[in-house]
Amino acid sequence: MKLPYIEPYKIKMVESIQRSTIEHRKQWIKEADYNLFNLSSDKVMIDLLTDSGTGAMSDHQWSEIMLGDESYAGSKSFLKLKEMVVKLTDLPFFIPTHQGRAAENVLFSVLVKEGDIVPGNAHFDTTKGHIEFRHATAVDCTIDEAYDSSVNHPFKGNIDTSKLLKVIESNPRDKIPFIMLTITCNSVGGQPVSLKNIREVSEICNRHGIPLYFDSARFAENAFFIKEREDEFKDKTIREIVLEMFSYADGTWMSAKKDGIVNMGGFIALRDEDVFKGCTTYNIMYEGFITYGGMSGRDMGALARGLWEATEYDYLESRVRQVHYLGRRLEELGVPVQHPFGGHAIYVDADKYLPNIPKEEFRAQALAIELYIVAGIRAVEIGTIQADRDPETRENRYPKLELVRLAIPRRTYSLSQIEYVAVALKNIYDTRHKAKKGYRIKWEAPIMRHFTIKLEKI
Ligand code: F0G
Repeated sequence: MKLPYIEPYKIKMVESIQRSTIEHRKQWIKEADYNLFNLSSDKVMIDLLTDSGTGAMSDHQWSEIMLGDESYAGSKSFLKLKEMVVKLTDLPFFIPTHQGRAAENVLFSVLVKEGDIVPGNAHFDTTKGHIEFRHATAVDCTIDEAYDSSVNHPFKGNIDTSKLLKVIESNPRDKIPFIMLTITCNSVGGQPVSLKNIREVSEICNRHGIPLYFDSARFAENAFFIKEREDEFKDKTIREIVLEMFSYADGTWMSAKKDGIVNMGGFIALRDEDVFKGCTTYNIMYEGFITYGGMSGRDMGALARGLWEATEYDYLESRVRQVHYLGRRLEELGVPVQHPFGGHAIYVDADKYLPNIPKEEFRAQALAIELYIVAGIRAVEIGTIQADRDPETRENRYPKLELVRLAIPRRTYSLSQIEYVAVALKNIYDTRHKAKKGYRIKWEAPIMRHFTIKLEKI
């Protein structure tokens, strides 16, 4: 019999989970205005809100915390981190920031002007927010297959090059400051981009003289999928694949809270010295001096080590297998999930799960709330609430998919906890015909409303 795979680590420290009852949770979620972001974490049993900043650091990372050099300028921890980023990406210019959206703010302050167009594959919401905030437009050029949850395409994060060419050809060159690839593409389900697609997009960029940037929050998971699914790369190491991926980029920004396996951090890495110089000014204004950018020295040390661990094959294999275990179990139990499974999360298809709730009443949010009430599990709506309103018409933007994301923190939950999540979703699915009413908005912010929205039951 083939031995099952095991996690390449063991547990040295534990954190207690507070148990609660359905009655408690009904009360707590009402008090939280039916917004799961408003719950304090002691009211949550399994927290799958995000895989961002919620992973477990290794003993080596914790030792970096003790080694942290807290000098204001030129600390050893900064140099350690810069060296690691250059080693992995070969991008020579490096600026730390306190997290991913801070990197977006600094970099886009240099690159994005009013009236610009930024084509890419399903921009993450803070990315789109930073583009729209500058009165520019993010144009989604992801392949159509990404929006059909039953289609099994190995690289649903890919850009459709004919869509991209149409955008390029219908806009003046100076209106497109860069083209971007989100690797893996969070907004369509943590789906990877193939190296073939990266090469094709890079070739188009070169032909039209447009820089190519990566949002590389989950670059290591993307490299893992390239190794698994693109024949040319099956014998390459993850780090060789990572180097090749970044060889096509003019620059990247990263939320290090994902594949950096740290609780806080981010950075920008660049090939162009002029862009770097522009960023240094904004970094000093918004983040901190250019050798810490809002991070403490100890955090930079832990991140350097985390980037190394995140690009180890054994770690990535166990990480992705745990996520896919949840996907497979849900499938076995008949719960509709998005295919193929992504790198950091499993997405439940709320359109198929709760079709009786009108989409105007936020069916994915209704499912996330029910999952919390029934089992104390916190997931997140990736649907109409997160898609926000059209900046011009102020109408709700109904996305092509209404999803509930079950994001799995790295190295944090056991397989029995994952099994608990699967069974909870099956139990709700069995009684889904009873749910007919959703929620209405009581209050919302003008941009990125999902974080603070207040809802009431209809
Ligand atoms: N880009 C991607 C692809 C992301 O997934 C995120 C964050 C960001 C940028 C922004 O980074 O949070 O460090 O400022 N995603 C988190 C999530 C919030 O839950 O998926 P940040």
